[in-house]
Amino acid sequence: MKKTIAKILVITLALILAATAFTGCKKKGKTLDELKQSGKLVIATSPDFPPFEELQSDGSITGIEIDLLNKICEELGVKLVISSMSFESVLPAVQTGKADAGVSGITITESRKKNTLFTDPYCLAAQAIVVTEGSDIKSKADLNGKKVSVQTATTAEKFCMQNGYSVSAYEANSDAEEALLTGKVDAWVIDDLTAAEMVAVHNAGEGTKLVILSEPMTTEPYALAFNFGSEDLVAEINKIIKAMLADGSMKALFEKYDAPFTSP
Ligand code: ARG
Repeated sequence: MKKTIAKILVITLALILAATAFTGCKKKGKTLDELKQSGKLVIATSPDFPPFEELQSDGSITGIEIDLLNKICEELGVKLVISSMSFESVLPAVQTGKADAGVSGITITESRKKNTLFTDPYCLAAQAIVVTEGSDIKSKADLNGKKVSVQTATTAEKFCMQNGYSVSAYEANSDAEEALLTGKVDAWVIDDLTAAEMVAVHNAGEGTKLVILSEPMTTEPYALAFNFGSEDLVAEINKIIKAMLADGSMKALFEKYDAPFTSP
């Protein structure tokens, strides 16, 4: 009898410890004051997503969202600090407090909203299908039963799984592209503006040409991702986004990168 009680106690204690360890890694997002006090805004990003964020050969990261964040940081009076990682690590970095914000062409979705505090959207994108020239895939309907590459943890991955395609997920976008070029998959599904940029760069070189099918498959509102607790900070950033949408400076940011702009 005594032994059973001891056992129950040990198990309960282990459970309590496990639970605190788990909640221990969940941090609250910074308030506007806390952020200003820290003097910096740390963003988590996956810089393989031109024209939004792209790693340059000199090690710098450039793009529409980097310009947008520089503008936001200037308005808030803090320094922008970029922490680069794979896309699948971006939202976890925000949830565990390793970064103040996730900035990675992130689409607002109902399931992400459970763990993420999003700003208002600042633009709209869509999923696009990329194939090699001469492919017999001409539209979404032709994807049934086909092999498709995507980036891990993206809305493209979710969309393709839900549609029952045979999905190969890659940590880096460039590897998802490479899978198509080497014939491992029949199509590559990726957000349209990034598809346009990466395909243009690829097609400027030698070898097999890539084609983007003109069938936008989803609507993807892009926003900046914060953690709960940052509500007043997000409200402040929403004001900046609203003003930039109203005075044309958001559109101008896209024009700077030769990207078409769709207002949310
Ligand atoms: N918009 C898509 C999503 O939210 C893809 C984003 C990929 N971003 C990146 N930086 N690789 O899932």
